[in-house]
Amino acid sequence: MSALHISQLYKHYQLDAVRVPALIDINLDIQPQRFTVLSGPSGSGKTTLLNLIGCIDKPDSGEIIIAGQQVGKLGDNALADFRSRHIGFIFQNFNLLPVLTAFENIEYPLILTKMPAAKRKARVAQLLDAVGLSDKARNLPGQLSGGQRQRVAIARALATEPQWVLADEPTANLDSQTGAAIIQLMRRMQRELKVSFVFSSHDPQVLAAADDAVFIRDGQLQPMPAKTALGSVDSNNNQQQVAA
Ligand SMILES: Nc1ncnc2c1ncn2[C@@H]1O[C@H](COP(=O)(O)OP(=O)(O)OP(=O)(O)O)[C@@H](O)[C@H]1O
Ligand SMILES: [Mg+2]
Repeated sequence: MSALHISQLYKHYQLDAVRVPALIDINLDIQPQRFTVLSGPSGSGKTTLLNLIGCIDKPDSGEIIIAGQQVGKLGDNALADFRSRHIGFIFQNFNLLPVLTAFENIEYPLILTKMPAAKRKARVAQLLDAVGLSDKARNLPGQLSGGQRQRVAIARALATEPQWVLADEPTANLDSQTGAAIIQLMRRMQRELKVSFVFSSHDPQVLAAADDAVFIRDGQLQPMPAKTALGSVDSNNNQQQVAA
């Protein structure tokens, strides 16, 4: 499986007359089949970067090669198709469809890939079992706890067997114990399914579980060895230490 390659990536937002630079000249390779965390202060550009990697948004300029595809060159339809086949996304607020059951939420991306019904149902049952929710298959998201909702979201992200799973602050809306269980689950799924996980997080538990860490500040990225990153972030003085 190939690395995720990002070069000379720029992105800004336009707010009325104000131009907000969100990512400035990002150059980064992320190794496959690892647990990589993006860390940095609020507003530093983590969500923006994940959205670009995840083909949810498009950069102003620069290159992103993921799963062997230069995604900047794809039109809207091809991008959506590529995304549904190769990328799973886990959101901070779970983003489950409220009118669909846990089973149906996980099934939904498989319907989009036109997988035959019998195979699809079997795959959803297997995923529900893997995330420990076989007994909650018929529950709507509103009838699940936060941790259970995030487990459904993890199963949904993994349903199409994507090469890359992106997670934006996946434990931010969970208490620390539930967050720890979710991290363990993601770690286990990453190892068993040999997928590549990229997270954004401020959560020390997520950072401690990472193989690699990348720090972002004011839209600029500072890659570094995992151990340095973890020590610095844990120190409560991360900006100064990482910048040093
Ligand atoms: N839709 C938007 N319109 C205008 N500015 C935006 C928009 N989305 C993000 N920004 C700005 O872009 C910058 C990067 O935001 P981003 O959401 O990527 O940060 P973040 O690192 O994910 O922060 P947090 O940790 O708070 O989630 C910030 O200055 C933010 O205010
Ligand atoms: Mg964010």
